[in-house]
Amino acid sequence: SKPLRIALAGLGTVGCGVIRLLDANAAIVRARAGRELQVVAVSARDKGKQRGVDLGRFAWEDDMTAMAARDDVDVVVELVGGSDGPALTLARNTIKAGKGLVTANKAMIAHHGMELARLAEAARVPLKFEAAVAGGIPVVKGLREGTAANAIEHIYGILNGTSNYILSTMEATGADFADTLKEAQAKGYAEADPTFDIEGTDAAHKLAILASIAFGSQVDFAAVECEGIAQVRAADIAQANALGYVIRLIGMADVETGDDGASRLLQRVKPCLVPRDHPLAHVTGATNAVVAEGNYSGRLLFQGPGAGDGPTASAVVADLIDIARGETSAPFSVPVADLVAMPAAGSGNR
Ligand code: HSE
Repeated sequence: SKPLRIALAGLGTVGCGVIRLLDANAAIVRARAGRELQVVAVSARDKGKQRGVDLGRFAWEDDMTAMAARDDVDVVVELVGGSDGPALTLARNTIKAGKGLVTANKAMIAHHGMELARLAEAARVPLKFEAAVAGGIPVVKGLREGTAANAIEHIYGILNGTSNYILSTMEATGADFADTLKEAQAKGYAEADPTFDIEGTDAAHKLAILASIAFGSQVDFAAVECEGIAQVRAADIAQANALGYVIRLIGMADVETGDDGASRLLQRVKPCLVPRDHPLAHVTGATNAVVAEGNYSGRLLFQGPGAGDGPTASAVVADLIDIARGETSAPFSVPVADLVAMPAAGSGNR
């Protein structure tokens, strides 16, 4: 059968990871997809940058937003980042051109996921974002499909690798905050703007997406109450330790039923004291972990690398394999029109 022809926008850590994975695991990917996954065109802000991957075999597109219009492309992979700007233009153009979109862009899905899903459903094209939440952990698929038969009662976890790397490294070595952040940046975990990691925004993006999938509610990023780790000091970590706790940046979402019987969605990201014998206390480094409690499945723990080139590329290519196999389900757990508009329990902070 014909190859699935791919345009790749964004050639940073993840984009180059996708190219390397497709080369290294070509036989596995071909067998699972039932056909070849073939990158035909690439685009990035800086053409001349040395990336250590051979780009000469692909067409280069100066204007990444034009990738969608190429006749030789079936699906666009958007790895540019940013909730708006060229990433959003490219996403809209791609879907409107009747092509599938795979993205790792949690900010864009947190802000514009409903609009993009509506467009994708209308155009009957796939929109997939496994890589947007918790890197290599198949948590979007796991919740959307694996726990589809459950009412999810709670969902919470460690959703930002950089913050977890910083907190767990400070805890283990007593290293200071600034040096540890530099290490996370050098390893390719941190966002282009690391304040998104440190202030909890990145975790809030992911939490808003997870809550929607878990509860069948509309994505409501503005309602996430958010506090990051910028205020956490070495002394806090030491005192928590003396009391038998570790500090982790936790994102949690719950549905609360008020006295009036109405359901409200509580979404919070904040540094929490976690008892040392809790599974999340053992999650160190740039690891993510998501706990989901389903009324029939029981408590599930999804854990693994939440950032970096390999894990994130693994999620991107899994989505491409689904598309190559003709998977056409709605982007969220139910069609957008059926997602519940749930009032926020908290006030949010944006
Ligand atoms: N900056 C993010 C993190 C990358 O540290 O988790 C993955 O979204």
